[in-house]
Amino acid sequence: MSFATHRLSGSKPEQYAQLAAQAAALVQGEADRIANAANLAALVYHALPDLNWVGFYFYDGRELVVGPFQGQPACVRIALDKGVCGNAASTRQTQRIADVEAFPGHIACDAASRSELVVPLLRGDQLIGVFDLDSPRVDRFDAHDQAGLETIARIFVESLA
Ligand code: SME
Repeated sequence: MSFATHRLSGSKPEQYAQLAAQAAALVQGEADRIANAANLAALVYHALPDLNWVGFYFYDGRELVVGPFQGQPACVRIALDKGVCGNAASTRQTQRIADVEAFPGHIACDAASRSELVVPLLRGDQLIGVFDLDSPRVDRFDAHDQAGLETIARIFVESLA
């Protein structure tokens, strides 16, 4: 396979369909969690505009621990009752935060972050972690971004052994 990715084009849903196809191709035949998280973080970070952090936190049975990512070094551990990530993990619902400064308890790993999308990673009832994206732009993520990035998160979960 080729590791080169192609520029996204067309409407936002079309672009996310292309991104999902690239994501599926990247993880195809591989079940290693670190490998797939690393490649998906790199894919998404370079494919989409206006992002300053894209990556994974994994649940260790107690709290979230940072995994593969692109962006500035980040907080290593996040309790489930802390931050946007903890909120996504404990509610098991995607958190789409237009203005992180208005979110009580937001953890500012990178002071440049202004909006955030966090998708919980669930296999059945089991919490695996979260997929976290930060943007330096307020209100960066709309419903198309949420749907598209939830698909990428699902491709990751389904790739695991
Ligand atoms: N802002 C997140 C912390 C993780 S960093 O964005 C990478 C939060 O509030 O949970």
